[in-house]
Amino acid sequence: MTSPLYNASGVMCRSVEDLEAMRASSSGALITKSCTLEPREGNPEPRYFVTPLGSINSMGLPNYGYQYYLDYAEKYDYANNKPLFISISGMSLADNLTIIKAFHERALPCILEVNLSCPNLPGKPQLGYDLPAAQHALEKICEFYDRPFGVKLPPYFDVSHFDQAAEVFNKFDLLKYVTCINSVGNGLVIDVDAESVVIKPKDGLGGLGGDYVLPTALANVREFVRRLPGKQVVGCGGVKSGREAFMHILAGATAVQVGSCLYEEGVGAFDRIAQELKDLMAAKGYQKLSDFRGKLKTL
Ligand code: DHB
Repeated sequence: MTSPLYNASGVMCRSVEDLEAMRASSSGALITKSCTLEPREGNPEPRYFVTPLGSINSMGLPNYGYQYYLDYAEKYDYANNKPLFISISGMSLADNLTIIKAFHERALPCILEVNLSCPNLPGKPQLGYDLPAAQHALEKICEFYDRPFGVKLPPYFDVSHFDQAAEVFNKFDLLKYVTCINSVGNGLVIDVDAESVVIKPKDGLGGLGGDYVLPTALANVREFVRRLPGKQVVGCGGVKSGREAFMHILAGATAVQVGSCLYEEGVGAFDRIAQELKDLMAAKGYQKLSDFRGKLKTL
């Protein structure tokens, strides 16, 4: 990758137009909106709300269905050296297996990322919080899928959960990377003037992004880097300048995604954050990311 920065899945990546804007940007890669077997409209609006500290969303997986992203992946020009990641979030294990089999049959050079962490489907718990179910899903996938792949994880908040989750992920050699973190699920933002919630689905509950989640994201990156030897960790959460990108890499991230900030600023965020990261590195005397990646000091 020519830049360590790319979009967080869900932001600027639902339509071909979005994906082409991402492709044309200075991002180092691009990832699609999580796809399901069938197209989905998603939850009722308003379903994304910006606050001074970040964002809350309950989109409900609006997407064009996996065939649309499979078509995009088939037409994608891999020679441009910008990796294409496909996020998959079927409504059931059977759906996920159908989607993954379809990609497997085409043997495309895109990289599949199985989303274990969508918090916004009423009545559907996040797979990442049910580790036996997550392990079962990964076993089923690995029965036939023979290419490297990744998973998108929810944030964990307890050291025993880092241990238990890592134990599961370490069973799968082809699971080459994890992305930490998805939004912090089921927050509640309140508008004092209106004495109301700010998004419609789930009576106002939604996934938090932005400043709210940076320390949680960094903790998840650092803890999984420590526990997943031989795998890579992609950092996601609270990146809005070169400083947060630096923090994620210092915590051990291989690459860094931008979500809430990209939603507000558009693809210009990649140039700005990359320049800020370069300036910060230059001020510190670092030439390359590996000069400081994973070198976070403890006291
Ligand atoms: C949605 C949100 C997520 O955090 C996710 O991982 C997948 C989908 C959504 O609401 O569309």
